[in-house]
Amino acid sequence: MGLWKIMMPQKIQLLAVLVFGVAVMLIENQIQKLDESRAKLESVLLKREVAETERRVGEDQPVAARGDNTVIIYNRVPKTASTSFTNIAYDLCRKNQFHVLHVNISRNNPVLSLQDQIRFVKNITSWKEKKPGFYHGHMAYLDFAKYGVKDKPLYINVVRDPIERLVSYYYFLRSGDDYRRGLRRRKQGDKQTFDECVSSGGPDCKPEKLWMQIPFFCGHVSECWNVGSRWALEQAKYNLMNQYLLVGVTEELEDFVMILEAALPRFFKGATELYRTGNKSHLRKTNDKKPLTKETMEKLRQSDVWKLENEFYEFVLKYFQFVRAHAVRKKDGELYILAQSFFYEKIHPKAN
Ligand SMILES: *[C@@H]1O[C@H](CO)[C@@H](O)[C@H](O)[C@H]1NC(C)=O
Ligand SMILES: *[C@@H]1O[C@H](CO)[C@@H](O)[C@H](O)[C@H]1NC(C)=O
Ligand SMILES: *[C@@H]1O[C@H](CO)[C@@H](O)[C@H](O)[C@H]1NC(C)=O
Repeated sequence: MGLWKIMMPQKIQLLAVLVFGVAVMLIENQIQKLDESRAKLESVLLKREVAETERRVGEDQPVAARGDNTVIIYNRVPKTASTSFTNIAYDLCRKNQFHVLHVNISRNNPVLSLQDQIRFVKNITSWKEKKPGFYHGHMAYLDFAKYGVKDKPLYINVVRDPIERLVSYYYFLRSGDDYRRGLRRRKQGDKQTFDECVSSGGPDCKPEKLWMQIPFFCGHVSECWNVGSRWALEQAKYNLMNQYLLVGVTEELEDFVMILEAALPRFFKGATELYRTGNKSHLRKTNDKKPLTKETMEKLRQSDVWKLENEFYEFVLKYFQFVRAHAVRKKDGELYILAQSFFYEKIHPKAN
């Protein structure tokens, strides 16, 4: 310091201190400005992130309309004309931007092992790349809440008159259908009619074979598969009402498609039009189906299994007709989807 004093005249010393001071002030000012702009940038980024999350989650929409995380499970019962409906999903998936996946289950066993139940639930719930997704397969109802996952899928299904379903299955095994013509079916070449089968007491037309729609809706509990169980019927009804978004009937499939489109346009926009104008790809007729004799009908209807399965079918039918009555109006013999009938008012506190 001493040397510096000696070597510089007083005035220059003063000037140097002054310049140094000003420089420090300028730099500090710059740093502050940088800080401010960084804070500004951070808040902009945060806001954008929040906006994006909100858009993704869609807090203001019901689960059914919430776009991109929805998973629909259609645990179809064999021979309920389910293929017609599934094909609509395949035809729409590209345009409406969702995924369709067939769950192929070995040996067509609708009851999954416990380890498969967990695999399936975990996989479907966390597989982001396949959301929104529509899964279809021949499996019994699975209650996702039981496995500790938060997001439950939406279940839908279609049921059919139980005797018609069984007859359809019977002939399907014997002569296939016009859908996969080349495929040889298990009982191919067996020419026995359903009536002959019933009168001779054959195994493929036993009343026990009617036990199908109840256990599918009842689920993965052993009692569900106990043929003729009234508990299973009640459980099937309970699941229908509490776990399924919509269940239709084969006999009125077009109305089912129409209501589904109104309820879940994210997936089914355009489905009704496609169903009405669509060509054969949506219809799958079993070959060589013959009407049943009175004796056959009486024999089946005497069984307890038929009584329970039929009670379930009629319960579903009523349930569906109630949903439909509240979803559409009829004009000149045509059905029209009702517009939104509620709105909000008296919204407080008022926005300024
Ligand atoms: C399910 O997978 C098996 C084995 O790959 C195949 O033979 C069968 O045709 C598949 N089922 C359907 C309905 O595609
Ligand atoms: C779900 O399963 C499929 C097929 O096994 C697999 O490719 C996919 O990675 C799985 N997804 C998750 C999230 O586990
Ligand atoms: C009829 O079905 C075929 C096969 O699925 C499809 O390629 C074609 O576009 C359909 N035509 C109409 C008019 O829907």
